[in-house]
Amino acid sequence: MDIRPRRLRRSPAIRDMVRETTLTTKDFIYPLFVKAGKGEKEPIDAMPGQFQYTVDGIGEEAGVIWELGIPSVILFGIPDRKDAVGSRSYADDGVIQQAIGAIKERVPDLVVITDVCLCEYTDHGHCGIIKDGDVDNDATLEVLARQAVSHARAGADFVAPSDMMDGRVAAIRKELDARGFQNRGLISYAVKYASAFYGPFREAADSAPQFGDRQGYQMDPANAMEAIKEALLDMDEGADMIMVKPALPYLDIVQRVREICLLPLMAYNVSGEYSMVKAAEQMGWIDGERVMMEMLLAIKRAGADLIITYFAKDAARRLNPAKT
Ligand code: PBG
Repeated sequence: MDIRPRRLRRSPAIRDMVRETTLTTKDFIYPLFVKAGKGEKEPIDAMPGQFQYTVDGIGEEAGVIWELGIPSVILFGIPDRKDAVGSRSYADDGVIQQAIGAIKERVPDLVVITDVCLCEYTDHGHCGIIKDGDVDNDATLEVLARQAVSHARAGADFVAPSDMMDGRVAAIRKELDARGFQNRGLISYAVKYASAFYGPFREAADSAPQFGDRQGYQMDPANAMEAIKEALLDMDEGADMIMVKPALPYLDIVQRVREICLLPLMAYNVSGEYSMVKAAEQMGWIDGERVMMEMLLAIKRAGADLIITYFAKDAARRLNPAKT
């Protein structure tokens, strides 16, 4: 007997019937950069097609995203001023706090996730409070919890700590509960590597460290077992969902974490993954749209339930051409 797998590939209808993985717009979370002040949205050079929005423009953009069938956004703030402790991150009139209000007013059902971290708000650009030239873990926890509570108060559905301090999931959960926000969720960037793929983001969010690097808190790209440890810890500390970041170079990690994780698993298709496709497309070297769809499919196939991606709007338009 001949084994002929090509029988299942003979026509589009047959291929549709046997397809194991499908993408929908509901898989996507779109990252938005919001800066203080008023005015026009500003293009981000290193991320063609992405913008820094101001609070007055963010509601309209939220409407576009919702209309495309994308259920959720994750917000990153670029504050009016920075200081050593990132105090604008937990101010009630901070840029994220205002942006949440503007989005919820315009599109109440859009699920708003906020990135909880200090690197955009500190003058030194590190993700925590500096003591003796190093990021002080436990001093940072207090500020992160304060920031998370202020996001919840402003109306965030989920807070997503991306700082990689030890114990921050438990610390934030405790503070949210103590302040009456038991119903708000926590998505942990549980498995976050110290990656060069974040380069364009640091331009977009103006968050590059002014000295040293993030290897003292973010994970070593060489480690896979440690990813399981980080995921188990954050599940134990009370995370509602966990994340692996970056996505594409770490699909083995996505798969391994999926196997041990009973929570929805998110993967972050980061800025460098996006910009490489855009650059090669601009050079005429690849079909950017097809590469985009293949990447997103591969991330889902590896085991991600949800994908944070700058491609969300483009991919949604491709999935549902009628909506454009
Ligand atoms: C930290 C944060 C970073 C990203 C998301 N949250 C940057 C960093 O850790 O340096 C990177 C996302 C991307 O590259 O798209 N607040």
